Amino acid sequence: MRETYVDFFKERGHAYIRSAPLIPENDPTVLFTTAGMHPLVPYLLGEKHPAGNRLTDFQKCVRTGDIDEVGDASHLTFFEMLGNWSLGDYFKEESIGWSYEFLTSVLGMDPNHLAVTAFAGEGDIPRDEETAQIWKSHGMRDDQIYFYGKEDNWWGPAGQTGPCGPDTEIFFDDGRPKCGPDCGPSCHCGKFTEIWNNVFMQYFKDAEGKFTPLKQKNVDTGMGLERILRILNGKETVYDTPLFTGIIGKLEDLSGKKYGENADDTKAFRIVSDHLRAATFILGDGVVPAKIGQGYILRRLIRRASRYMSKLGIEKTCMREIAEVVVSEYSKAYPELERNKDFIYTNITAEEEKFRETLTKGLRRFNEMIAENGDKKVLDGEMVFRLYDTFGFPVELTTELAAEKGLQVDMEDFERRFKAHQDNSRAGADQQFKGGLADHSEETTKLHTATHLLNAALKRVISPDINQKGSNITADRLRFDFNLDRKCTPEELKEVERLVNDVIKAAVPVVCEEMTYEEAKARNAVGVFADKYGEMVKVYTIGDFSCEICGGPHVSNTSELQGFKIKKEESSAAGVRRIKAVVGKFD
Ligand code: SER
Repeated sequence: MRETYVDFFKERGHAYIRSAPLIPENDPTVLFTTAGMHPLVPYLLGEKHPAGNRLTDFQKCVRTGDIDEVGDASHLTFFEMLGNWSLGDYFKEESIGWSYEFLTSVLGMDPNHLAVTAFAGEGDIPRDEETAQIWKSHGMRDDQIYFYGKEDNWWGPAGQTGPCGPDTEIFFDDGRPKCGPDCGPSCHCGKFTEIWNNVFMQYFKDAEGKFTPLKQKNVDTGMGLERILRILNGKETVYDTPLFTGIIGKLEDLSGKKYGENADDTKAFRIVSDHLRAATFILGDGVVPAKIGQGYILRRLIRRASRYMSKLGIEKTCMREIAEVVVSEYSKAYPELERNKDFIYTNITAEEEKFRETLTKGLRRFNEMIAENGDKKVLDGEMVFRLYDTFGFPVELTTELAAEKGLQVDMEDFERRFKAHQDNSRAGADQQFKGGLADHSEETTKLHTATHLLNAALKRVISPDINQKGSNITADRLRFDFNLDRKCTPEELKEVERLVNDVIKAAVPVVCEEMTYEEAKARNAVGVFADKYGEMVKVYTIGDFSCEICGGPHVSNTSELQGFKIKKEESSAAGVRRIKAVVGKFD
């Protein structure tokens, strides 16, 4: 399916781009890549993409908002999105025509089983009759076309601000009678399943909530791989598709149970399959289990999977065996899994063992707490926090355990304690759970350029061996992690600050060029891993001070930063230092 999709769009002038990593490169406001368009935001906003203005790919995605829903027939944390984009090139006519052709001619779907939606109009934005007309020109009947408002037929921005627009969504209609007079694609009775979303991204929503037309009219489409496979295979759930056969088969071997035989086990099979597939991919992008950020989600996934493996009667340490199935089945599409398999296996096993140790102790403590709690129906936040802090129980785990005993958890109290415990940056990471895209606002753009200057200055002042280990930008500050096994001296920090401010004062243009990865390397451009990029890369050069491979966006002249100040230097991890800095006018 991945190949069929990409080939279809390649034949129609699209360049195939590789899936971006699950960890957003230039978007510090979210933990994971949540949609195919996510890595393309700068280009949807008007930057030139090195591969051209028609793109296609399959993108690995993680959405954690519904993590507790996983176990039912449809929710997943990890999924793949097939997509095609027009960056200011074709628009509705071609986009709809190709979607229709792909579904009916290539996949052989019966047009009578399709239903589509269009934007009904709301506020200043008119009803999208054009989309309906195009669908009709392909033979869709009036009764297959539904109009909905912003609630259903508008996509984005994924964060507070960003590109967005009306969409047309394509649904599979399973043919059963409508459940009532209002039944349609937006109804949740199960008759309709959304398979593809074509967004006509032509607006920008700003911080005040105002919509202004974008410089260019884009198309952003996304089709869920799991869902389309479910429908084509005529299956009830995504877990019955070939994407899960190997994983579930392995779990059957390990547990001696059969998938689908009873409801509780079925739920457990699904949770373990989803969570360990997601965990393998997240590990494959270099994340390790941790108390905050992506590492926390990873830990949650592994620990929840571990609990449900116990429910299936699997008691030995064997997550690696599931990860091996994922690596072997998905490496053709995602070669990074094969390359990083040792890292994946080592870390999944380490976390599994660590949790096993604390689980026993934690459960004992949990049961004591339940006893101490007496007749109260609510478990107080202090207890929940202690389980989290001492035994590494994700709060969701405690909530689940409590629910099994008919108890609720005082989440507000827990949150208060959690927040008090975390420093600002950690609380910031917590905010990121909510998802949403970066607002590529002026401030974050400036801080992004400041990050390049800081990186270059550290190399000059401290050592050419300094490399970026992590970067995080909010609207207020940059955070930059780099390898160094000692504290920076005050003199070094002063010198770094001075160098960066000199470049800002010198008003140096920031030049962006496209070139092959090889050419960029020949120029000694600083970059991360070769395989993260396509053939062509963008290189940002700031005079002779800095030269980095980067997706952007950046300011066009360093003077826009006005000034640069280091606010903090601290340890981040063993051998890694962290600097927080700000830009602006300082007296
Ligand atoms: N961005 C849209 C979605 O996520 C289409 O790709 O549904």
